[in-house]
Amino acid sequence: MEASATGSPVGICDSILDAIGNTPMVRLPQGFDPEVQCEVLLKLEYLNPGGSTKDRIALHMVREAERKGLLKPGGRIVECSSGNTGAGLCMVAATLGYDITIVIPDKMSSEKIAAIRALGADVVVTPCNVDIEDPMHYTKVAGRIAEETPGAWWPDQYHNRDNTDGHYYSTGPEIWEQCGGKLDVFVAGAGTGGTISGIARYLKEQDPAVQVVGVDPPGSILAHYWETGEVCESGPYAVEGVGEEEVPRAWDPQLIDAYKVIEDGDSFAMARRLAAETGVFAGGSGGMNLAAALEVARGLPKEARVVTIVPDYGKAYLSKVYSEDWLRDFHYLPQVPAAKATVGDLVHEKNRATVYDDETLAWAVRQAGERNVRPLAILNRKSGLLLGIFDEKAAIHQLSRGADLENLEAGDFALPVTTILQLAQPWHDAVTALDKVEGVLVQLPDGYTSLTRQDLLQGLKRLKHDS
Ligand SMILES: Cc1ncc(COP(=O)(O)O)c(C=O)c1O
Repeated sequence: MEASATGSPVGICDSILDAIGNTPMVRLPQGFDPEVQCEVLLKLEYLNPGGSTKDRIALHMVREAERKGLLKPGGRIVECSSGNTGAGLCMVAATLGYDITIVIPDKMSSEKIAAIRALGADVVVTPCNVDIEDPMHYTKVAGRIAEETPGAWWPDQYHNRDNTDGHYYSTGPEIWEQCGGKLDVFVAGAGTGGTISGIARYLKEQDPAVQVVGVDPPGSILAHYWETGEVCESGPYAVEGVGEEEVPRAWDPQLIDAYKVIEDGDSFAMARRLAAETGVFAGGSGGMNLAAALEVARGLPKEARVVTIVPDYGKAYLSKVYSEDWLRDFHYLPQVPAAKATVGDLVHEKNRATVYDDETLAWAVRQAGERNVRPLAILNRKSGLLLGIFDEKAAIHQLSRGADLENLEAGDFALPVTTILQLAQPWHDAVTALDKVEGVLVQLPDGYTSLTRQDLLQGLKRLKHDS
């Protein structure tokens, strides 16, 4: 068998770190945008082993910190991250034997925070709605923890040249090679600016004619700074990982030839279309990049080639970009007129489950406890008819006394059903029903789901009242 330079058989990595980089580029299907004649290529950075482009810079920054003596064996990495750099650094820390603390703002998806915990980090969650000068701002918190912890090193990705170099030495050359030295425009958003600056520097060194287009969400200061040289007031935006409220030193505006600003709703809609129509499952910033790339591409001839980046994977955003309820909550999808809304509009994306009377109490507890289907319908196995709703108090009693739940039957834990709502009933019937009880059943064509006060707190925001 052939062996690699490290002695391992070809195709076998010595560690997960060897799997970073060499991501594929995929051509957007012709006709995806009828007004685009030229080629649009997507660099699928979510196929890095940690799920994002940030794996590259995590490894490069750590290796450089080791080389410069900033990070020593037994040391601790402390970083503020919107999630992806955190995940990449955790992977590197786990592989190379460092401790790690990640400081993350609370607007980030719960999936990202859970992933960082799973990778062994101590996680500190900070409020997102604080000024950058506030001591609770995530960058300030990370700096403070690093200062107060012996042996700690703060990569400070926003101002670290090694972040930019990570892309200069890997992503840039890969794109150049995959394109066979032929590309006209490179389009990318900036968070720290490392991706766009590192890649742009490399590409322009190869061919100064390559145009570089930056992309920003509307509340970020970067596009305005690029245009005017002035730092404006930042505003809120929802796309994760891109946009800034201060000018990061990892970002080099001199390398950028034009800027596009893409509304959050358009970024999310583009990501959803891309997933549904091409199978490329991008996060919100991938949608933003593509929306900008298509704007650029519409003005180009057939022979031109536009390259953009899909920084991370859509699965991290199932509860946001890929949830219609979330999109409606934040008005990225039209709200439902209150005059027409039904109970069905309140249970749209709810977990669904029913339990048969001869199934175990352990199973019923899992459906109600883990999957949060409350109240839980219990059906008669033979007739398929509704027997009752799960008696949670009695189940809690059994759990408290350490009973063997595998030997108890769900059917012995059924309470009489008080209310069943129909999907087509007006939404205010649900409000009336939940005035007295915490949760009620809702009849579906193929079973039942539950509706609770928590669902009303969430779902009633989606209704549009005539004012
Ligand atoms: C999802 C996502 N997209 C894009 C970016 C932008 O990359 P950069 O920080 O290199 O500008 C980031 C950075 O955190 C990100 O997490």
